[in-house]
Amino acid sequence: MSVFEGSGVSVKYGAVTALDSVDIALEPGILHGVIGPNGAGKSTFIDALSGRKRVSSGRVTLDGEDITRRSPRWRRGHGVSRSFQRTSVFGSMTVREQLEMVARKNHEPDLDDVIETLALGDVTERVCSEIAYGTQRLVDLAISLVGRPRVVLLDEPCAGLVADESAQMLTHVRTLCKERNVAAMVVEHDVDGVFGNCDVITVLNLGKVLATGTPAEIRADETVIKAYLGSAA
Ligand SMILES: Nc1ncnc2c1ncn2[C@@H]1O[C@H](COP(=O)(O)OP(=O)(O)OP(=O)(O)O)[C@@H](O)[C@H]1O
Ligand SMILES: [Mg+2]
Repeated sequence: MSVFEGSGVSVKYGAVTALDSVDIALEPGILHGVIGPNGAGKSTFIDALSGRKRVSSGRVTLDGEDITRRSPRWRRGHGVSRSFQRTSVFGSMTVREQLEMVARKNHEPDLDDVIETLALGDVTERVCSEIAYGTQRLVDLAISLVGRPRVVLLDEPCAGLVADESAQMLTHVRTLCKERNVAAMVVEHDVDGVFGNCDVITVLNLGKVLATGTPAEIRADETVIKAYLGSAA
């Protein structure tokens, strides 16, 4: 049994099936990448696993307990956190105010650790709208880590970052996953970053799992190469 599992997860938007019986199993200290073309269902999958979107079938478990019908708030309170594809920092708050607001909701008395780990010490008193976009994305990551969640689901933390920032972000994610023993899932378009940092990769296409395996297995998978990687492999 894995700490966090989605099995046979399906989601419909009206007549459109966005996710069709998708499985995932997350383990502590293992970074699980999810890749796939635009519209593959990656964000929908995070929405389903985090409780934001109701599943039409399938189940989600935490420590083997069925949490499929639990609210996003309940899941966050029980150690399952997520981030969003678009930055969710409030522009008018300082970085510290923003983190303190999340800390109050999640009974986290100690923000210093997360601030230090992500090297945000220099910007804590700055207003979020005035810091660089790359730093805002680090604040997004920091928000998801407040309260020491055991499961973290990240939706494109590198979206909009330049290559160097993107590489640094994925290094942070990998380090945090290992140091905090977090069961982590990261959705990303930065294929090289995912192959270089993730322990396991799931490829989604048209709402279905094409393949799950180690980076080496995924790189060599004919179906994945045809449908997604092409020359990038
Ligand atoms: N609110 C919605 N209403 C209707 N259809 C939706 C809605 N949100 C997403 N979809 C559809 O569901 C499918 C999966 O979308 P999703 O956003 O999960 O893809 P994604 O893999 O995250 O894509 P991207 O890489 O562009 O972020 C797409 O066909 C999309 O058009
Ligand atoms: Mg998406």
